[in-house]
Amino acid sequence: MNSFWSSVLFLFFVIYEKCEAKSHPKPSCGYPPSQWCRTLEIAVECGVQKQCMELNATRPDPSVPPVEVTVYYESLCPGCRSFLTEQLFPTWTMLKDIMTVHLVPYGNAEELPEQNSFLCQHGEPECKANMFEACILNVTGHAAFPIIYCMASSSDVINAALPCLQLNAPSVEWEAIKSCVTGGLGHSLMHENGVKTRSLKPTHRHVPWVTFNGVYADDWEDKAMSTLFNLVCKLYEGIKPPVCTGALKKLNRSFC
Ligand SMILES: *[C@@H]1O[C@H](CO)[C@@H](O)[C@H](O)[C@H]1NC(C)=O
Ligand SMILES: *[C@@H]1O[C@H](CO)[C@@H](O)[C@H](O)[C@H]1NC(C)=O
Ligand SMILES: *[C@@H]1O[C@H](CO)[C@@H](O)[C@H](O)[C@H]1NC(C)=O
Repeated sequence: MNSFWSSVLFLFFVIYEKCEAKSHPKPSCGYPPSQWCRTLEIAVECGVQKQCMELNATRPDPSVPPVEVTVYYESLCPGCRSFLTEQLFPTWTMLKDIMTVHLVPYGNAEELPEQNSFLCQHGEPECKANMFEACILNVTGHAAFPIIYCMASSSDVINAALPCLQLNAPSVEWEAIKSCVTGGLGHSLMHENGVKTRSLKPTHRHVPWVTFNGVYADDWEDKAMSTLFNLVCKLYEGIKPPVCTGALKKLNRSFC
């Protein structure tokens, strides 16, 4: 090969390499996006330190309590699944700095103490899915809501548990969930959820049943089902974050 062609070839490779490097995504940092800003170490590892610092700087006043949203529901009830996926999760994604979410899977179930089991409105599969969700809440902590959202969004709630766990909490072993479900812990978590649900005042008349800072109101329930986002913004007692007021906040975002 003469030197002209070898330099063309060389140049080609240089350009090719450059494009390759540019179009390749950054190597995965081993955490899902929901956790990138959890600690400084994770932010550095994922290369999003600057974005997380910006996000942290716009956090609301920590002395004002967040709006506490508690949802009493059952895993296979269509109205519960649509509330979780269409209202609660999108609202929480936008407002997680001013709200906390507590999920109580149990709903209209009944406890059968003599038989050491439960009776669920949507049958045995629902009892199983409720217990999976109770165990996920207990075992995975802050990752639980994205996992349960993922399950509620899928066509097969129970069989989605494993892929949803791997997607949102890759460091949690599936065995930990399974042993909670098959061991005694799952049962006692469901019992606790039953106690919580039965002690509601007023008694729940349907599910999902939503309380705000521990209080139920028909008016709030109606609003929660259609415009939860606005309701949480309204109930928050601190200075409203820009996302509530529609104020434009210019941040240095990164684009790909
Ligand atoms: C954001 O703030 C929280 C709480 O103040 C802190 O624990 C976390 O390390 C901060 N994250 C980054 C990336 O600075
Ligand atoms: C998990 O359940 C156990 C037993 O009820 C309880 O002691 C523990 O605090 C729970 N953990 C979480 C994160 O809810
Ligand atoms: C955004 O980037 C510009 C230019 O790099 C810089 O001057 C400005 O301080 C940055 N703003 C924030 C909030 O980091």
